[in-house]
Amino acid sequence: MIIDGKKFAQKLRNKIKKEIQSIKKKTKLIPGLTVVLVGNHAPSEIYVRNKEISAKEVGINSKVLRFKSSISEIKLISVIHKLNKDKKIHGILVQLPLPNKINGHKIIQEINPKKDVDGFHPINVGNLSSGKDALVPCTPLGCYLMIKSVRKNLAGLNVLIIGRSNLNGKPMAQLLLKEDCTVTIGHSKTKNLKELCKKADIVVAAVGRANLVKGDWVKKGAIVIDVGINRVEKKKGYKIVGDVEFETVVKKARAITPVPGGVGPVTIACLLNNTLKAFKNIN
Ligand code: GUN
Repeated sequence: MIIDGKKFAQKLRNKIKKEIQSIKKKTKLIPGLTVVLVGNHAPSEIYVRNKEISAKEVGINSKVLRFKSSISEIKLISVIHKLNKDKKIHGILVQLPLPNKINGHKIIQEINPKKDVDGFHPINVGNLSSGKDALVPCTPLGCYLMIKSVRKNLAGLNVLIIGRSNLNGKPMAQLLLKEDCTVTIGHSKTKNLKELCKKADIVVAAVGRANLVKGDWVKKGAIVIDVGINRVEKKKGYKIVGDVEFETVVKKARAITPVPGGVGPVTIACLLNNTLKAFKNIN
């Protein structure tokens, strides 16, 4: 089974849209999302545009605030404080990466945790890791929802997460621990990755290494989620591939997400979901 991320995301967006319409009718209130974009990192421009289009489609008031890469940390913090106070804004997202001279951790700590739709604030990170309600980072949340759509009861399953980032690997581990999975996190220094992978019932690949996971790494019937977005050069131009070698793994897996068209669209739908959740928590 190939998990169609576009269809999955569309379903999620339809559900969010309906709920927002009913909220608007009852309360006359509209969930608001502001994305803060600093500098002109080309991939960020594309991500932010897609976020804005999707937010509008479901009826979220969305706005992008753009700043030159020369903006000071103090000025950026004052922008965040203003958004924290704005009653019409329920979600704040600071697009990463930020320019080198700006300390991203410092900026994220200034976001009101209730409006932190990325789930990156230490309060949300802490709540997630202690099993409490939290705003959860959008990519691992999307991966989690796709895994659950294939199999409801995950208790006791062996999971291998490849990648230990704060954005993906670590929150993914927390979500699956909460489901009583046995979770292993592998990374660039892990010695026996292939052997660990062969034992996994669920594999989440999020390391940024093109086609790393091959068919002979994967147990028959495993669920394989590919978070990778890697550019590989072709004779003419380039193509985007994941961390999983799709052609060989698709023959072994019970379910697999393709790249593109897998995790990507679902991540954006989860941002809309988090904005709605933040709106409900605030009101
Ligand atoms: N840059 C790449 N992915 C993300 C994300 O999920 N959130 C933010 N804020 N920036 C990103």
